[in-house]
Amino acid sequence: MAVSISKLSFEHHRSALGIGESAPRISWRFQGDAPNWEQSSYDIQVARTGKGATEPVIYSHNSSESLYVPWPDQELASMESAKVRARAHGKAGQSSTPWSDWVAVETGLLKPEDWSGATPIAAIRDYDINSPKRPIYFRKTFALNETITSARLYITALGLYEAEINGQRVGDAVLAPGWQSFNYRHVYDTYDVTHQVSKGENAIGIVAGEGWFSGRIAFDGRNWWGNNIGVQSLLRITTADGQVMTIPTDESWKSNVGPIVSSEIYDGELYDSRLEESTKGWSEAGFDERAWLAVGKLPPVKGSLVSPDGPPVRKLETHKYQQVLKSPSGKVILDFGQNLVGWLALKVQGPSGTNITIRHAEVLEHGELALKPLRSAKATDNIILHGNGPQTWEPKFTFHGFRYAEIDGWPADTPISQDAIQAMVVHSDLEQTGWFECSHELLNKFHSNVRWSMKGNFLTISTDCPQRDERLGWTGDAHAFGPTANFLYDTGGFWRGWHRDMWSEIQRNGAMKVPFFVPTVPPGSNDPGAAVWSDVSVAGPWDLFRFYGDKGMLQEQFAQGRAWIDHGLPRNADRLWDRSSFQFGDWLDPKAPPEQPDAATTPKHLVADAYLVRMTEILMLVAETLSDDVTASDYRAQRSQLVKEFQKAWMPAGNMTNQTQTAYALALHFGLYTDIDQRHAAANALRNIVAQNDYLVGTGFAGTPALGPALQDVGAAEDFYRMLLQTKVPSWLYQVVMNGTTTWERWDSMQPDGSINTGSMTSFNHYAFGAVADWIHTTIGGLAPAEPGWRTIKVEPIPGGSITSAETRYVSPYGAIELKWWVDDVGFHLNLSVPPNTRAVVKLPKSQETLRVGSGIHKFHQ
Ligand code: BGC
Repeated sequence: MAVSISKLSFEHHRSALGIGESAPRISWRFQGDAPNWEQSSYDIQVARTGKGATEPVIYSHNSSESLYVPWPDQELASMESAKVRARAHGKAGQSSTPWSDWVAVETGLLKPEDWSGATPIAAIRDYDINSPKRPIYFRKTFALNETITSARLYITALGLYEAEINGQRVGDAVLAPGWQSFNYRHVYDTYDVTHQVSKGENAIGIVAGEGWFSGRIAFDGRNWWGNNIGVQSLLRITTADGQVMTIPTDESWKSNVGPIVSSEIYDGELYDSRLEESTKGWSEAGFDERAWLAVGKLPPVKGSLVSPDGPPVRKLETHKYQQVLKSPSGKVILDFGQNLVGWLALKVQGPSGTNITIRHAEVLEHGELALKPLRSAKATDNIILHGNGPQTWEPKFTFHGFRYAEIDGWPADTPISQDAIQAMVVHSDLEQTGWFECSHELLNKFHSNVRWSMKGNFLTISTDCPQRDERLGWTGDAHAFGPTANFLYDTGGFWRGWHRDMWSEIQRNGAMKVPFFVPTVPPGSNDPGAAVWSDVSVAGPWDLFRFYGDKGMLQEQFAQGRAWIDHGLPRNADRLWDRSSFQFGDWLDPKAPPEQPDAATTPKHLVADAYLVRMTEILMLVAETLSDDVTASDYRAQRSQLVKEFQKAWMPAGNMTNQTQTAYALALHFGLYTDIDQRHAAANALRNIVAQNDYLVGTGFAGTPALGPALQDVGAAEDFYRMLLQTKVPSWLYQVVMNGTTTWERWDSMQPDGSINTGSMTSFNHYAFGAVADWIHTTIGGLAPAEPGWRTIKVEPIPGGSITSAETRYVSPYGAIELKWWVDDVGFHLNLSVPPNTRAVVKLPKSQETLRVGSGIHKFHQ
């Protein structure tokens, strides 16, 4: 019955070391099953720690808010730390929580001068800027005369970095600092390295690769943000006598090349272990650096140096292969049983010069690796053994999307085994918040595939795909998948950073166009903007608000959507989309030919106009939420006018000018029918189209997210169940019966005969069509936010198809919500757990009644 605080957090940070906010807002999550428990007031206790340590001070507030409450104490200065805890008091007669655990918070380098003179440095050496750049090792020794009380490393790279101090790796982030629109925002990371430095001689080493910054990325070219590999760091050490010592990157550092000959995002790594001698002990004090090169200063990074909003990328799982295959041409291919993103880690021994080549692919064709879907990405790692006994290796500055790995040149001395070769799974370390399982095994597998495609593509930014020569932050894909992503993982900080970059890119040329992908490559390119894709500037922030309830962040992101809709979007005299504008349309409609993914059955401008009405409505909702009544009524008026124009253009006689699933799904779901009879007729038309299509999918990127909700809105959820549980192509479960372990770019990336779609754009790991999982969570699972942030939970499962039970769990910002329903001979049963300080509105199937319940455990039957 007790209520307690299970987690206290700052802003949207998973860990609050080195944050950029001097007055971070505080949130806490509850646990416990106390009935109807609601917070009436709270206490926050803050104690400064570190140099200016203070006694804890308690701040009490009469407020029911438990999310993003204002920082109560004096603002934190740069590099200042505090510990914070909270307790909450219930309403009259209800218990209080005990104090939460203390949680540490510490700011990073808030002002440029806090970098103590650290500048980006690069090796002074000749190299060809038009070829892959050889990773560089940097080092610096320093002596400490006192005992250390605290040490922090602030670090970034013009490229990607991994740091070591005294021979020991700093932190466990990989591919840091990730990918940003580097001309505007350049993330640095903060590490607590107190236990890695000590009195006496010390050394710091940083190895850096070209990464996204100056490597080959996007369609044609490299060096988009710079043509060098650089690092910038500041090691800041406080000693027992209160002295602060700083070790900034400057010209006193040394550099060298080492065993990593090249390491590129698309093409992979070449590692020559025979060259390890030159870097053996390179991050230790006693190392002989006489042969090392000097470094030179680079100009300051172009973007603002900022601390990250989202968590870093980490190695999060290890997978063993399931079988060793011999291909018809005699190749050894390992099957990991799961299409994943990361790389292989080897433990191997063999004669010096043994060259092991690892090629990666998502699928096999005719028993061989299918490399065509990778286009020009080589996705190949090479390791040359040193011959001096056992060695371990994994690449540093690349990643691959693969299920199969072909191994060539493996030495006879080491048998291939599950111990010798393992796959490491790498992605942004987001907290998992959503779970779903039901009685339908294929659907469960599909759900797992959706999650895997999210894991594989949420790697510092959300990418379209993780394997070919693309891997870009496509906006349309993020738009479609946003609600699903926000359910499965806590994405608040992850998207916050991305939207900051989007806003910089939008403002870049004053035209307020939202680029097709963020970061934009080449950085100066000016995309014209397109419906659905650019519309993520409006819908992304709104979806974030629905899930996380953060008005401050909504306010911060409102300007970008307005800039796009009010200024960037090209219009006709009737205020609908300019008919000459570029559009992707209902991209990858299943009827589009392989080489014409935009040749959809629904006209592009119908799709664009429908989305324009919906985006205008969202802007109205945002303005209402932010109590900006004038703006809200302006968008309300615009919306009703646009609806009229839409009707004139696309449904002059009531029915849609185009008889497609997408046309009707958008019109119904976006409320474009105002005449009730016409709406009924449209509902029937959609149902007929779907039935005549044998309940197969007929939508692309634009129509897919709206299809389930549209059918459900018109009382035809059962029709959508038939589509969802369909296993013929095109359908969601077709991919599952074809042994897919992730969601595919195309409905038929693999044909029923096992051959691969001939289109040059055929990935097996694209999350966009997984957007249907939002319907799965909401309708089968029965959970949706009724109020932003899940303060009120909408519980409305609609059982259907052959599904007889479902279990859904969502860790909301207030705490965990759990829902389980099943149907048996007696009827329908639902068990629900509502976290403290929230309530639920429950509608049972086949009932018109809505029940309101408070926190606690509830059981219903019908
Ligand atoms: C990407 C998509 C993207 C599309 C836009 C493709 O190459 O993989 O997912 O949205 O281009 O046209």
